[in-house]
Amino acid sequence: MKIAILGFGTVGSGAYEAAKSAPGIEVKRIVDLRDFPDYRDILTKDINDVLDDDEIELVAECMGGVHPAYEFVTGAMRRGKHVVTPNKNLVSACYDELMACAAENGVEFRFTPAAGGGIPWLYNLMRSRRCDEILEVHGIVNGTCNYILDNMHTNGADFAAVLAEAQALGYAERDPSADIDGHDTLRKCVISSNIAFDARLREEDIPTFGIRSITAEDVAWCNANGYTCKLLMNAGLAGDALYAYVEPELFTADALESGVKANFNLITLTGVNVGPLSFYGQGAGMMPTGTSLVQDMIDIAAGIGFAPADGGTAHTLDNTKVAHRYYFRGSDLSGLPASVIAEQFARGSDTVVLTAPISVTAAHQFAADCAARGIDFFMAGINE
Ligand code: HSE
Repeated sequence: MKIAILGFGTVGSGAYEAAKSAPGIEVKRIVDLRDFPDYRDILTKDINDVLDDDEIELVAECMGGVHPAYEFVTGAMRRGKHVVTPNKNLVSACYDELMACAAENGVEFRFTPAAGGGIPWLYNLMRSRRCDEILEVHGIVNGTCNYILDNMHTNGADFAAVLAEAQALGYAERDPSADIDGHDTLRKCVISSNIAFDARLREEDIPTFGIRSITAEDVAWCNANGYTCKLLMNAGLAGDALYAYVEPELFTADALESGVKANFNLITLTGVNVGPLSFYGQGAGMMPTGTSLVQDMIDIAAGIGFAPADGGTAHTLDNTKVAHRYYFRGSDLSGLPASVIAEQFARGSDTVVLTAPISVTAAHQFAADCAARGIDFFMAGINE
């Protein structure tokens, strides 16, 4: 099968390398606006060199972002070309339209590396739900944040310095705000939930709190109290509704999540029949992600389809019924009702509060209020 790669950055070049040992896959074109002297024989700046080439049966979109990736991907599908992509921004924002476009044009649209990087999480999530009901999905899905938190925990490293390392290793997004503010985790939560629950979640409806404001003192407190901090996506059934949220969580030493190092991810589904099922591996990086993309190509070439339910159910999102204790630290926590404070102490000019169990809605509303008041604030759910 002759293919084209759109975008020759970290994942595009990883896919090119992995494709060299993929049976039956030949890279005929690379599209990128930059010059790569070693690849001039197949490099073009013009997308039409791919769209108009009937020999190219599959397009690997590795440009990132929603536009013009959306136009290129749908243009390729309308010309009867299969599409694979690791682009979570695109899949999260345009899931319905892309699934519909693939169905209308009788082509495959596969995006396994869009959540989990090198881990075949989405593929196995889809497989699991063919004959099982998924009750919940949760996990560490951002390699950059895990790399930062792991280094802060084990080496007492400074946040900014470790972020720079994660960028140099090719884990971080072009704008790393997407990683550290939790938006990358949010997109992976939307995509995973859409497959798990046949949902159509919108990014803007899911409360999201990242790790930007975590300090070395927060991490030192976690270490002293037997906790490891991780950034988590969570989604699941709550009666007729769904809950879904992204936040840092504190895990005790016996939790699997506590042992997740470097850029690794750990993602778990719970099915009625299968129970908990966890997937562990590298969630970011050139070769893990590029190889996962090529696995999708090989499946398509072999006629192995990916068939998430395509009904699309408009679930109500309700985070008021999920509750747990929280660690709050801020320069001014005076807005917190006394009834939710289980323990409180001062740390320098900051206040630390361990709350009684409160709803996810209430915790994220308090975080939003702090942000609106310009208060330096960090929170993490306590997983117990
Ligand atoms: N920036 C992402 C991460 C890349 O760190 O996980 C993989 O999606």
